[in-house]
This record gives sequence, structure tokens and C-alpha cells, in this order.
Amino acid sequence: MKVIIQKDYDLMCQWASEHIINAINEYEAGETAATRPFVLGLPTGSSPLGVYERLIKACAGGRVSFKNVITFNMDEYVDLPKDHPESYWSFMHTNFFDHIDIDPANINILDGNAADLQAECDEYEARITAAGGIDLFLGGAGEDGHIAFNEPFTSLASRTGLRTLTSDTRAVNARFFDDDPTLVPAQALSVGVGTVCDAREVVILISGRKKARALRDCVEGGVNQMCTLSALNMHNNATIACDEDACAQLKVESYKYFKDVYANEILQ
Ligand code: GLP
Repeated sequence: MKVIIQKDYDLMCQWASEHIINAINEYEAGETAATRPFVLGLPTGSSPLGVYERLIKACAGGRVSFKNVITFNMDEYVDLPKDHPESYWSFMHTNFFDHIDIDPANINILDGNAADLQAECDEYEARITAAGGIDLFLGGAGEDGHIAFNEPFTSLASRTGLRTLTSDTRAVNARFFDDDPTLVPAQALSVGVGTVCDAREVVILISGRKKARALRDCVEGGVNQMCTLSALNMHNNATIACDEDACAQLKVESYKYFKDVYANEILQ
């Protein structure tokens, strides 16, 4: 697993957005593009906002197009109306989809109001497979090292399904619900750790001191169900893009190793 440490949040987002733009443009220039669209996995949360802003600008400036891109979002709250301002459906449209040239038919977001939630999850997995699998899954990380809504102790082989949020995660997400954890939905639908790991490439954004424990556990703690993000150590094309603040709990030895080995990826 690569760990690319940028000075701050802005440079982390710049690196990640350029990486995505290059991945889409390289794909478009290749032979497979004629057979199926590029398949992009996407997260919600504060971490990707700077990446979305840059991708929107790049699209407006003609540097990238999403016309031949299919997206699959990581997760969605259960029993929150789709048009609620804090649903992940609303988040994605407000912060990204409404500002790019994507075909709405190519946007896939789990339906947390489906009558049969497991059927919805099974069908989502089938849709990912039918699209050709995910080429690049962009993600964030919870403070406890969760990926999507795969809380500690979720199977590292898990597939898309219903998840119960921990009290910690509801407390962290209360900032979007009038600072009241009880207003945060108790359950969500989420792609599994195995679903993320099936992507051909995974890029995870980790920014700020609050994420320092998650980064340390993932990088130095070995593959461990307490930190579901750590499953990426078993992936052969996974990158963590982080900032200096997120490195606060890394050993000096690990920090120096990554700064040295990926020196040519560090932006000024
Ligand atoms: C939620 C989402 C995760 C996201 C995490 C971090 O738990 N389900 O997919 O990575 O929040 O969010 P933020 O980027 O706002 O810190």
C-alpha cells in the first residue's frame, strides 16, 4: 500500500483530483473505453469536498469529461428521505453531480428506503459486476478507521449490506444533524470491505489530526478487523493520500519511509 503524504489538505486534494483526471483520460485513450464506460467509486464526507471542487473545475475547463463514466457511491443512510439535505443522494448532487457533465442514468447510489434492503444491496453488487467492476474507488476514513460504513469488527470479506452505526460514528456525524446524535440514522447501507477491495485501484483520503489514529492503525497495525481500512494492505493497487496532520501518530521511521519512497509524488 502506498502512502503519499502532502503538506496540507489542499495539496492532498490536488494530488487526488489530478490522479483521477489522469486515470479517466488514460482510460479514454485506451481500447477498453469503446466497450464500456470508466467505473468510478465515490465517497461522501468532508474529505472529498476539495477533490470534487477541483474535478468540477477541470470538467468546466475541458480537462476531463464524465460523459463516459459510471459512478457507484459507497453508502447511504437507511430511512432518511432521499431529498433530505443530509442524505448522501443530496450530498452528491449538491457537491458534485449537478456541476459535471455526467449522464444521470450513470449515477448509482444505494436506496436506503428500498422495501427490501438486502435485495437492494444484492442488486447493487450485480450492477457493479455488470458495469465491468470498479476501476477506481475513491474513499475516506472514519476516525475509528472504518471504510464506507464498515465499522470495526465488520468482516474484511464483507459485501454490500445493512450496517448498524456505532455510537462513536453517530456522535461524529451529529455535526450534520443539529449536533444531536439521536437524529443521525442508526443504520446505513454500505458497500462491503470486500466490495472496495475488488476495485482495480483504491485511493483513500485521510486528512487532519482527528484521523491520525486511523492512519496509524491502518499503516502500522497490520491487517486487523478493528480497523477495516487496514484490509487495503492486501490490495495490490491501493494508495492512501494524506496530509501532514494525519501523520501525527505515525512512527518517525514509517513517516520517513513514505516521504522518501514517494518523494516524486509530493506537490509543492
Ligand atoms: C462517514 C462515511 C465514510 C466517510 C467518513 C469520514 O462515516 N460513511 O464513507 O469516509 O464519514 O467522513 P469525513 O470525510 O467527513 O471525515
